[in-house]
Amino acid sequence: MSGLFITLEGPEGAGKSTNREYLAERLRAQGITVVLTREPGGTPLAERIRELLLAPSDEQMAADTELLLVFAARAQHLAQVIRPALASGSVVLCDRFTDATYAYQGGGRGLSQERIAQLEQFVQADLRPDLTLVFDLPVEVGLARAAERGRLDRFEQEGLDFFNAVRHAYLNRAAAQPERYRIVDAAQSLTAVQEQIAQLLPQIVELHRG
Ligand code: TMP
Repeated sequence: MSGLFITLEGPEGAGKSTNREYLAERLRAQGITVVLTREPGGTPLAERIRELLLAPSDEQMAADTELLLVFAARAQHLAQVIRPALASGSVVLCDRFTDATYAYQGGGRGLSQERIAQLEQFVQADLRPDLTLVFDLPVEVGLARAAERGRLDRFEQEGLDFFNAVRHAYLNRAAAQPERYRIVDAAQSLTAVQEQIAQLLPQIVELHRG
């Protein structure tokens, strides 16, 4: 038995968490075992690395440090949560994964795709998501929603240029490999976004059946 690995991606304020819950409920209603998790994080140790990554600090974090921390958290998460869940046949719904590294450390920080790809191969071997939903919306809309949630984390403090680069990196990856990605228009109302997700359900169930 092998599971299905679905990742949810997009900028801040795109509604990934709310919609991840919705997708999980719909899959569970069909008798499918779902594991909900997130990156950076997903295990106690990886959540500690997340705190290091998100906490604003006087000492500027070098881009390579950020990249290595993201992959250190991922290695732990894969070993403790993702690989075991997939091996037991679950659907794993993960809020962010390596596409976020290509978008934020690649697009946002300007690190090379090749360097990220090397770490991806080292940490994940052949494991890639089966399906990735990219929640897309104008950068300004996402940032305004994130600001409403309160104190900004280290990434949320970045400017518009950074987030435009993040958005374009996601859209470019989706365009380059359309069979793995589905773009969700996250600027619409919650009900309309959930309708888009509901339309993907038959495909997801079919993929899980293999
Ligand atoms: P969020 O999950 O609450 O949106 O916050 C996680 C932040 O971490 C978000 O700003 C994106 C960032 N991030 C990266 O920069 N690289 C990564 O590989 C991942 C998974 C997240």
